Amino acid sequence: MKELTGLGYRAPFHADLINGHPEIGWLEIITENYLWDKGSRRKRLERLRENYELAFHGVSLSLAAPEEFDNKYLSELKVFCDELKPTRVSDHLCWSSTGGHFWHDLLPFPYTEENLNRLVSKVLIWQDKLKRPLVIENLSAYIASSKSEMSEYAFLAALVAKTDCQILLDLNNMVVNSKNFKIDPYKELEHINLNSVAQIHLAGHIDSEHFAIDTHSKAPNEATWDLWQFVSQKKKIPFMIEWDEEIPSFSEVKRSLDQARSLMGYHL
Ligand SMILES: [Fe+2]
Repeated sequence: MKELTGLGYRAPFHADLINGHPEIGWLEIITENYLWDKGSRRKRLERLRENYELAFHGVSLSLAAPEEFDNKYLSELKVFCDELKPTRVSDHLCWSSTGGHFWHDLLPFPYTEENLNRLVSKVLIWQDKLKRPLVIENLSAYIASSKSEMSEYAFLAALVAKTDCQILLDLNNMVVNSKNFKIDPYKELEHINLNSVAQIHLAGHIDSEHFAIDTHSKAPNEATWDLWQFVSQKKKIPFMIEWDEEIPSFSEVKRSLDQARSLMGYHL
């Protein structure tokens, strides 16, 4: 069970992770927070790596952007992976830059055959360069294109079929989108072969009257826990809690991890 249990690494958890010996097997780090640092941040990663496996989670690949990849970024990422040997390397099914402009938002795009073929080529280029499967996360979103010819999850499944990439399935994002776009997450899950899911994200969001806002500022809600129970009963997949705003004490995050384990049918 320990090898399945992960946590999104945040600096306030450092002392507990190093000194507390929690039942956690791996940590996810935000790639861009460490990629270019050879000083104190790198030392911190190397210290963590003595106790935990690492997963890298990128936010700037901009997979669906119209341009080709930034080769410098891919080369730097390859060196970073060779040095720290992460178990998984992920990024998002989105675009976040174009024409040299960068946004902090991870933006959706039309899920069309044309874009599928374009992204198949890009994923294959990434995988050829990095010599490992790219793990791609489904998005939470607030806008959707009327040009889409399939759902995001059907698009992801087709990408897996054509490239052997893997999926980072964010169940909170599915719940957020279920409210924002009136989709049924259980129906969408029918597109996904769980054997292609390398990792799960669990997080919390804020519900307003008409839509959900993906804040990662609280524990997962009941709908996300229900989805997690449904998925985890079918297949045991590495999972983690993501918490990015209003970061609580380590013991509170640990409670969410314990709840996740309990819903899988495992008790410490
Ligand atoms: Fe996520």
